[in-house]
Order: sequence, then structure tokens, then C-alpha cells
Amino acid sequence: MFVLGLQGSPRKKGNTNHLLSIFLNEAETLGARTRTIHVADCNIQMCRGCMSCEKKGLCVITDDEMTSDIYSLIRDADVVVAATPIYFYSATAQLKALIDRSQTLWSRKYRFKLADPKSKNRLGVLLSVGATKGENLFAGLELTMKYFCDAIDADYSGNLTYRQIEKKEDLANSPLVFTETRDMVNRLLTPLSSRKKVLFACRENACRSQMAAAFAQYLGGDKIDAFSGGTSPANSVNSVMAGTMQEKGIDMAFRKPRTLETVISNTKPDIIVTMGCGEQCPFVPGAEKIDWDIPDPAGKPEDFMRHVRDEIDQKVKELIRKVS
Ligand SMILES: Cc1cc2nc3c(=O)[nH]c(=O)nc-3n(C[C@H](O)[C@H](O)[C@H](O)COP(=O)(O)O)c2cc1C
Repeated sequence: MFVLGLQGSPRKKGNTNHLLSIFLNEAETLGARTRTIHVADCNIQMCRGCMSCEKKGLCVITDDEMTSDIYSLIRDADVVVAATPIYFYSATAQLKALIDRSQTLWSRKYRFKLADPKSKNRLGVLLSVGATKGENLFAGLELTMKYFCDAIDADYSGNLTYRQIEKKEDLANSPLVFTETRDMVNRLLTPLSSRKKVLFACRENACRSQMAAAFAQYLGGDKIDAFSGGTSPANSVNSVMAGTMQEKGIDMAFRKPRTLETVISNTKPDIIVTMGCGEQCPFVPGAEKIDWDIPDPAGKPEDFMRHVRDEIDQKVKELIRKVS
């Protein structure tokens, strides 16, 4: 389980960061891998409103951290936690720039009718603080968050908001914050943390293991926490594979090949499914090993890729039945 925190305050030692840290620390006690993005430190260009993403499915801005990292991190996340102080009854401009750029993900979902493999199980949470105490202090932000969650394919699962928090240390002195945050984390994340962790492994993590992980996430994401890696990862996923998955309505955009060592150091799998990497696959004590022996479709004709895709689809369905 991967929990991504989007920390929207420019004050790194302020109230928002404190609240997000409590949330992420609690998530880690449930076995989650976490990452905080301090949005104000990132190079995120503002949406230009050019509508290119609605026509082509990708943003024209290619030289910032949204494109290099953040789309991928959002797609990888099981839980996205957006945390921001109230600035003029809304999110900070830094976080809003990130939110606006999620229009690319909205376009892929609604214009191109593509499904993000994690779309059925991803959760979205809002954390916020504000200095005043008005009844509607968080109303605008909540609406923004609901529509951000829709764009990133997350089920908006609630918020923790605190009024009359102004000076840097105010939240830390607030008595209920810790227990309320812990309760929320346990309520929302326990079902996700009890899923079977399944690692799909192949050589380049560009074709077979990517397809298997995507099918497992899409078809069995409530029972399986699926991830993938390769013994010698390629620079990017195979474009023919992405095209054949797209024929099934599954979106492979923003996925990145990773080494097996990296994924295993992050999450210890219960099951490792290999697809030909055989004895090169690292030994993980306690993990059940299954070999599917599926031929490498890289460089073969498109029809061969389709055949491999359908075989993997069937095997993933069997695996889901097995772990259910
Ligand atoms: C530019 C700016 C705009 C703000 N606008 C509001 C506001 O509209 N309503 C409010 O209650 N607090 C407002 N605040 C106060 C912050 O929300 C508050 O100080 C918060 O605790 C800061 O969180 P941080 O420590 O995480 O940065 C504003 C602060 C700044 C700097």
C-alpha cells in the first residue's frame, strides 16, 4: 500500500505538515509505504488551458515535475492525501497548480474512456487548517477536493479540518488532533493493508509484469496489493503493450519500470509471480513463488502481444480466485 501526501503549505514546519506527518506516520504503522511531496518546492507549471490533453491525452508541458514524477506517483498511490492551509477560502496556489494539471488525468478518464488500473480502490483524503472559525471556512476547498478526487480516480473518503489554527505551533497544541487522525487512518486504511501483497516479476518490467500488475489492480484491487519489477528494467514501458491494454480500456500511461530490489525493499511480498526471470529473481524468505512461464512478447508482432495479454488476463483471474 502506497500513501502519497501532497503537502500544500509553503511553511514546511507549519501546521499542515504537522497534520500530514501524523497521518503518514500512522499509515506506516499499518505497513504503508509513504511519500510526502512538498508542493511548494516542486517545479509545477500552471495549466495553460490549451485543451491539448483533451485532444491528445497528454499535457503539452513536458519539462516540469508534474510530468517527470507526479502523474506517476498519483497513479501509483492507493491513497492520496491532499493537505493544505486555507488561503482565501481555498487551497494554496501551489497545490492548486498541481490540482489544475490533473486535468490530463480527467481527460484520459472522460474523453478517452480509459481506466486507471487502481481506479476502483484508490482513496482520497483532505487535511486542512485555517485561522478563523467561520462555518463555511472549508466549504470551497471540499468541493475542489471532491472534483480533484474525481479526476485522479480516488474515492473522496473524508477530511480532517481544524479551525482557529494560525501560528506555526497551534496544531501541535490541539488536544484531539492525534486521536482523530489515528482513528481516520485505521478506519480507512486497515482494509487496504490486509490485502495479499503480490509482486509480478519479469526481466524488463516493461511488458508482462506490467500487464499482470495492472490486471490484478483493476480486477482484484480489493483483495490484492499488486506491484511489479524487473531484473534489468527498461527505460519505459513497451508502447505496443500499452496500446493492446488500451484496447481493453486499461490505461498504462505514467507507469515506470522498476528494479525488483527497489520494490522488495519497499514492500515485502506474500507471493512472487515470475514470468521467465527464473533463478535471477531475488529470494524473499516466506514468499510463495509461482512461475507462469509466459513468453516475452517484446519485439514480436502486435497479435502475439494480444495473445500474451489475454493469457495474463486469464491467469490473473485464476490468481484472484485463489487468494479470495
Ligand atoms: C496568504 C494567506 C491567506 C490566508 N487566508 C486565510 C483565510 O482565508 N481564512 C483563514 O481562516 N485563514 C487564512 N490564512 C491563515 C492560514 O490558513 C493559517 O495561518 C494556517 O494555520 C497556516 O498553515 P501552515 O502553518 O500549514 O502554513 C491565510 C494565510 C495566508 C498566508
